[in-house]
Amino acid sequence: MRLKSKDILGLEEMGADEIELILQTATSFKDILNRPIKKVPTLRGRSIVTLFYEASTRTRTSFETAAKIMSADTSSIAAATSSVVKGESLKDTVLTLQSMRPDVFIIRHSASGAPHFIAKLVPSSVINAGDGMHEHPSQGLLDMMTILENKGKLSGLTVAIVGDILHSRVARSDMWGLAKMGAKVRFVGPKTLIPPEAAKLPVEVYTNLEEGIKGADVVNVLRIQLERMKKGLFPSLREYSQLYGITNERLKAAKDDVIVLHPGPMNRGIEILPEVADSSCSMVTTQVTNGVAVRMALLYLLMGGSEDVTAS
Ligand code: CP
Repeated sequence: MRLKSKDILGLEEMGADEIELILQTATSFKDILNRPIKKVPTLRGRSIVTLFYEASTRTRTSFETAAKIMSADTSSIAAATSSVVKGESLKDTVLTLQSMRPDVFIIRHSASGAPHFIAKLVPSSVINAGDGMHEHPSQGLLDMMTILENKGKLSGLTVAIVGDILHSRVARSDMWGLAKMGAKVRFVGPKTLIPPEAAKLPVEVYTNLEEGIKGADVVNVLRIQLERMKKGLFPSLREYSQLYGITNERLKAAKDDVIVLHPGPMNRGIEILPEVADSSCSMVTTQVTNGVAVRMALLYLLMGGSEDVTAS
């Protein structure tokens, strides 16, 4: 089985069979990360351009690491140090880079839909590494891989996504992916941080934190995205933390074996307390490791890989 599209733009448009294929492939690749020599020749001669119009630590490094492990060549463009600062448009930037014949573009942009625009413009594959408040599909996939590793299944689980859901592309990718895989998804947060269209989405909405995480198998805590807030959506960070900050005490409402996810970067002491972030139920660093495996799988599947790269 192969992926149906040349691009990875979002999990809303992806089938459950494709998600399963990506997760299985990523799981088989994870072993490579534990080898002393983390290098396989699978994508030798292939080239990848990362094009980031917004800041990133995890996603960009993770895609670059994944590409290097698979022996692909990478070029990294950050908008702040490119001809974008001289006024070059997204279209002209991409057409310039396309002239160098990359196999895959990986793009992060503040405008929802920017990767979709590029995908129509170029014959190369395009991976959405986060577009505005829309989707962040590779994060959704690595979150699902982390849950699957810990719980052995996705179907039937209750996943509470807590915090700034309004501005979160992670919440949207998690929601579409998890719902397709049969999990029950809850959006939990103050009314001002819940998307107005939530009633039409495959989620249950809770404004009370204790009720929202009650009986949950997974609590996925989201960062408060102050940079995307044009107006005050809650009185103060202190008040937000008092009402919605995830503490060990509050986690007692969830299942005994609950795991806690956070896509990062964390605002410690605001949406998540250090006592939770550094506890054994926190999967934050595992998510980062799984991110490399998921991105290896995406690159491999997009570039038509079929050989068994896990054989040493
Ligand atoms: N989770 C995530 O997208 O992190 P970065 O912004 O550091 O890439």
